Amino acid sequence: MLEHIDPTAQEALSALENASDLQTLDQARVRYLGVNGQFTALLKKMGSLPKEDRPKAGVQINQAKKKLEALLARRKEELEMAAAMPSQATDFSLPGRRPVLGKCHPLTQVTEDIVKSFRKIGFVVADGPEIEDEYHCFDALNTPADHPARDSQDTFYIQSPERPLLRTHTSSVQIRVMENQPPPIRVIVPGRVYRRDTADATHNPTFHQIEGLYVDRGVTLGDLKGTVEFVFQELLGKDVKLRFRPHYFSYTEPSLEIDFSSSLTRKMGKEWLEIAGCGMVHPKVFDAVGYDPDQWSGWAFGFGIERIAMIRYGIGDIRLFYENDLRFLKQF
Ligand code: DAH
Repeated sequence: MLEHIDPTAQEALSALENASDLQTLDQARVRYLGVNGQFTALLKKMGSLPKEDRPKAGVQINQAKKKLEALLARRKEELEMAAAMPSQATDFSLPGRRPVLGKCHPLTQVTEDIVKSFRKIGFVVADGPEIEDEYHCFDALNTPADHPARDSQDTFYIQSPERPLLRTHTSSVQIRVMENQPPPIRVIVPGRVYRRDTADATHNPTFHQIEGLYVDRGVTLGDLKGTVEFVFQELLGKDVKLRFRPHYFSYTEPSLEIDFSSSLTRKMGKEWLEIAGCGMVHPKVFDAVGYDPDQWSGWAFGFGIERIAMIRYGIGDIRLFYENDLRFLKQF
């Protein structure tokens, strides 16, 4: 048995040394050092040696075992390192892969631009709920219960005793702002509104508006005209022309509609496009919020954000804004 120790150890050493990958190394380990391995077999045989041979054999075997274990550990580390190396060299001159960056929806972009322009001339942004009550959406805006705009076909009511509804316009926020603070007031209100419309190229059951409200002493329609002209020229170019037509809204007197003309509308095959409603705040609206109509005057307007975005970008169908088609959205 003594004569077997060295040859077996030699064999095991060279098997470990020559293993070219981790799998082969492990096979060699099992073959020699495993429970049923050849080297392990020698260890087991120790007990059956004559007493006087045992110390010598013990020293020999233990030295060999230490050597094997050290070699196994070294080879394992070497082969693990080799396995972790990339098989192909890295080309550091290649351009990096950029993460895909999202961006704002075109309607958000237009809204932010409109807000920016109004901020320049002293307006601040106000906000109000999309689920409104009839009082703020209609009554306080001098729109009595028998007014056509309150037709239940016109919007979405929620079935509960208070009859809350999805607001049909951002004008409701005029009331909420005035209820909460005394004049002077200079606010704009961008927001989402709802109507019971069937979707087509120019209608959708939900869309966005920007409301404006200016209240102070001695405010005139001339201020309204100058303000709206300034903002539209910033937004849609210096060649913008505006036309004010008499109209009817129950919460303004007089009331007007604003038509818009520029090279952009001509590109869409039209000279004038209707773009906003506006007027001088009706005294009854001031009454509803407790402002003295003899002291204060003001104007208000509301326009559709989709309309402006469509003109700005030459978009022919409003539904494109809501389809989340990346081929469309990526163009802005
Ligand atoms: N609320 C109107 C609409 O949705 C737009 C509007 C007209 C707003 C006149 C106003 C206004 O503030 O004075 O069509």
